[in-house]
Amino acid sequence: MHDTTRIALCGKGGVGKTSVAAVMVKLLSENGNRKILAIDADPACGLAVALGVVVRKTVDDIRKGLISQIRKGESQGAPQTLKQLDYEVFDALHEQDGFAMLAIGRPEDEGCFCKVNSLLKDILGELAGSFDVVIIDGEAGVEQINRRVMKTVDHLVLISDTSAKGLGVAGAIAHVAHDNKAVDFRSLGLVLNRVKNQAEVDDISSRIGLPIYGWIAEDDLIRDFDFRGTSLRELPDTSPTLGIVEHILKTMGVLT
Ligand SMILES: Nc1ncnc2c1ncn2[C@@H]1O[C@H](COP(=O)(O)OP(=O)(O)O)[C@@H](O)[C@H]1O
Ligand SMILES: [Mg+2]
Repeated sequence: MHDTTRIALCGKGGVGKTSVAAVMVKLLSENGNRKILAIDADPACGLAVALGVVVRKTVDDIRKGLISQIRKGESQGAPQTLKQLDYEVFDALHEQDGFAMLAIGRPEDEGCFCKVNSLLKDILGELAGSFDVVIIDGEAGVEQINRRVMKTVDHLVLISDTSAKGLGVAGAIAHVAHDNKAVDFRSLGLVLNRVKNQAEVDDISSRIGLPIYGWIAEDDLIRDFDFRGTSLRELPDTSPTLGIVEHILKTMGVLT
């Protein structure tokens, strides 16, 4: 069994989760020969675009397929179902250039089907365990990750811009993560994005009461790449954000 490091990125919409996740995947997949899994847990599948991946099938597609089988009375016994789900998740895994990617798809609706959800979560957990580093690009809260992707993460990375709203959401997520025993993590820290200068960081740091893993300045390259829909894996070495995210991964002990 691998020693797997699971990193989940959470924060308000638009603060830079997907951009930072994509840069992390780029750096980790280019550094050494560790097995990297990127999980796009945002229904809009933004991480796929940022990594230049075309999603064929999501975990939600698999889930819906099984539910419709169950509804038609076509479902087989539990061991057979598990085998089928296992195969389908493996089939939905996209592999290229030193990393693998899996998209979760839409949040579940149409009733609970808790059994199906928990089977899928078990399979995702098992799959994650065969990788060295797992990067989860989440939605706003950590509950979604807990409910839809996996129960345990090692590093919970909260991302925020310098806005009061963004910081408020990050603070609320930290609060839930600390209070809610269902969410299991080893370390939690904040990454500030689109920062003007160190003075802003110092100001926020004195107010927020969360460890700060690092901060990223406004980066026109990131904006341009997004504008053109170019994969962030093609960011040139001159991009200052690359160096900063590398430093953040070192601070977290994920890169040496
Ligand atoms: N440091 C940055 N400098 C400039 N633009 C950025 C930066 N970080 C993110 N952006 C832009 O902000 C928008 C939202 O970023 P994104 O990573 O998609 O956020 P989220 O995944 O949290 O919704 C995108 O258009 C992205 O290009
Ligand atoms: Mg996103």
